Amino acid sequence: MSKICERMHAETEDITKIILQAAEKARAETSSEPEPGLTGKIKWPIECTVGPGLEGAIACSTKIGYVNGAKGWLIYQGYDIFDLCAHSTFEEVSYLLLHGHLPNKEQLDEFCAKLRSFLHIPHTLRTVMNLPLEQLNPMAALRFGANLMRQRLTWRDNESARPSPESAIYTDEDSIPMETKPMGEEHAIYEFRKKKRQRPKDARKNADDASDIESCMHLIAGMSSLTAAIKRIREDRLPIEPDPTLSHAGNLLYMMSGKRPSPEEERLMDVSLILHADHGMNASTFAALVVASTMSDIYFSVGAGIAALNGPLHGGANEQVIKLLEEIGSPKNVDVWFDKAASEKRRVMGFGHRVYKAYDPRARILGPLADYVTSKSGSKRAKTLLATAKKLEKKVATTLGKEKKIFPNVDYYSGLVYESMGIPQDIFTPLFAVSRVSGWTARILEYIAYNRIFRPRALYVGEFDKKYVALNKR
Ligand code: SDX
Repeated sequence: MSKICERMHAETEDITKIILQAAEKARAETSSEPEPGLTGKIKWPIECTVGPGLEGAIACSTKIGYVNGAKGWLIYQGYDIFDLCAHSTFEEVSYLLLHGHLPNKEQLDEFCAKLRSFLHIPHTLRTVMNLPLEQLNPMAALRFGANLMRQRLTWRDNESARPSPESAIYTDEDSIPMETKPMGEEHAIYEFRKKKRQRPKDARKNADDASDIESCMHLIAGMSSLTAAIKRIREDRLPIEPDPTLSHAGNLLYMMSGKRPSPEEERLMDVSLILHADHGMNASTFAALVVASTMSDIYFSVGAGIAALNGPLHGGANEQVIKLLEEIGSPKNVDVWFDKAASEKRRVMGFGHRVYKAYDPRARILGPLADYVTSKSGSKRAKTLLATAKKLEKKVATTLGKEKKIFPNVDYYSGLVYESMGIPQDIFTPLFAVSRVSGWTARILEYIAYNRIFRPRALYVGEFDKKYVALNKR
C-alpha cells in the first residue's frame, strides 16, 4: 500500500508545492500571534469560563488533536496539518489518530490492507439499496448505513453482549449531589469526588468490545463505501467494488464515479480527507462522545456524529456555500449582495468559526487547491463560482474580518474543489463524514478508556412554588 501512496505523491508534486507555499505564508503571517493557549497536563477539577453553547468549556483532556484559534494552527497528535497534507495520506493520518504515532512500513501496509478489505460491505449495501434513497437526505442514508453495519458486524443487540454496567462505568454520579441548594459559599453546588474508586481492571475490556480499533476501521472504510453507494443508487446505478490498486481517496472517487481518478483528483481528495479528519471538540465530535460516554457503542456514537455534522452551521455549510455563490451569480454582484446581507444580519456561509479568530489553516490549503483544480479542469461555471468566491472573500475580509475576526473556514473552498471534480453538492457533507469518522472514532477510543458520562448542567431560570390548578378552573 505504501507503494500506492508513494505513486500518488510522486505524480502530484505540483500539489505538494502548493501546500508547502501555503504553509510558508501561514507561518510568516502568524509568527507574531500569541503562543498557544491552555495545553498540557491538567488536574481536575479545573476553572473555565463557560458561555452559551458551552463556549469555553473544557470537556476532557486529549492528545488526538489541537486547534490554536489565534494563530490558525491545526495539529493531529503533535503533527502540523501542513506537513501532513504535504507528505502523508489519509490512511496514514487515520493510523496516526487511532494509534498516536506514525506507522512504519509494515504497520502501514497492514493497516491499509485491512482498511481496504473492510471497504467490502455487500450485505450492508444490499440492505441500503432497499431504502428510498432518492427521497432521503444522503446524511440520513449514511446514518442508516452506520446502524446497518452495527447490525451486521456486532452482536450488540443480544443480552449476552452487554457490558456489565459496574465494570464499564467506574465513576458513579451519586457522588455529585447535583442541583442541591448550595450549602454556603464554601461548598460548590456540586462537589467532586474526593477520591476515585479504583478502576476495575477489566473496565476497558468490558466497556464495549464493539468499540475497539477494528470497529473504528470498519466505520472508516464503511463511511466511504456507503457514501459512494448512496450517490450511485440515487443516480439509479449499482454500487461498485473497490479497486485494490487505488488509495482510500482514490477508491472513494472510483466507487462514486466508476472511473479511475486522475493522479491529481486522487491526491486532491486525499488532501481534503486529511484536512477534515479531526478538529478539536467540534459539535459532531462532542455529540459522538456524549453517546459513547453512556457506554452505548461506537456505531451509535458515529450515528450521532453524522446527525450533528448534517447541520448547515457545521458540516452542512460546504453545500450552502455553493448555493450562496450561485445566488450571487457573479463577482460584479458581490458588493450589492453583501451590503444587503449585512443589513439583514445574514450569516455568510463558509465564514466564521467558534475557535479560529484567524484564517482557518484548512482554507489556506483548500483555497489555492480550488484555484489549481478550477484552472486545470473547472468548467466555465466553476470558474465563475471561484471568481465570485474570491471577490466575496475580499469583501468579508475588509468588513467582518476587521470588525469581528471573521475569516473563511474549511467549508468555504472545499465545495469549490468538489464542484470542479464533478461531485454533486448533496454529497459534499457525506464526504465530510467520510473523513471525520477517523477523528470521531479516535476520540471515542481515547475517551472511553477513562470514561465519565457527560452530564453538564442547565441554569434554571424558571419559577418555584407554583400551585396546581384543576383543569376545569383554568
Ligand atoms: C465547521 O467547531 C468546529 O471546529 C467546526 C468545524 C470542524 O472542522 O468541525 O470547523 C467545521 O463547522 C465550520 C463552520 C461551518 N459553518 C459555517 O460556515 C456557517 C456560517 N458560520 C457561522 O454560523 C458561525 O461563524 C459559526 C456557527 C461557525 C460559529 O458561530 P459562533 O462561534 O457561535 O459565533 P456567533 O454566532 O456567536 O457569532 C459571533 C458574531 C455574531 O455577531 P453579533 O451578534 O455579535 O453582532 O459574529 C457574527 C454573528 O452574527 N458571525 C457572522 C458569521 N459568523 C459569525 N456574521 C456573518 N457571517 C458569518 N458567517
